Amino acid sequence: MFLNLLPVLVVLCVASTPLAARAATTFELKSVKIDLPDSDRMFPEGPGSDAINNNCLACHSAGMVLNQPALSKQAWTAEVNKMINNYKAPVAPEDVGTIVDYLTALKGAK
Ligand code: HEC
Repeated sequence: MFLNLLPVLVVLCVASTPLAARAATTFELKSVKIDLPDSDRMFPEGPGSDAINNNCLACHSAGMVLNQPALSKQAWTAEVNKMINNYKAPVAPEDVGTIVDYLTALKGAK
């Protein structure tokens, strides 16, 4: 008979645990505000700067490009194609030449 009452007893004990004792184990979710560094640096004005500003700032800063060493035209072409083919940069095919010329004029290997 006592064994039949055991489950009832267990339920009663749990239910009667003081609320305060249980509250200690709950946790609160809080929103935090984090300011990530961003950059509004653009590519310097010049022939083709519109094309590069429109196509090359969606994923990274201009600094990512401008801090690279000077490269040959061939290497800049490979770099732009890498952005398009490997990282799926949505660059219009007619802008590729303009961007490569811009980069070669600004940071071409001598
Ligand atoms: C779809 C996103 C995306 C767009 C748009 C994009 N890039 Fe990138 N780019 C990346 C990623 C991702 C990296 C970092 C690769 C790494 O960490 O190795 C990168 C890195 C670079 C680098 C550093 C060298 C390297 O190869 O890692 C250069 C230079 C560069 N991008 C140039 C450009 C130019 C020029 C354009 C415009 C034609 C452009 N990117 C547009 C995604 C993009």
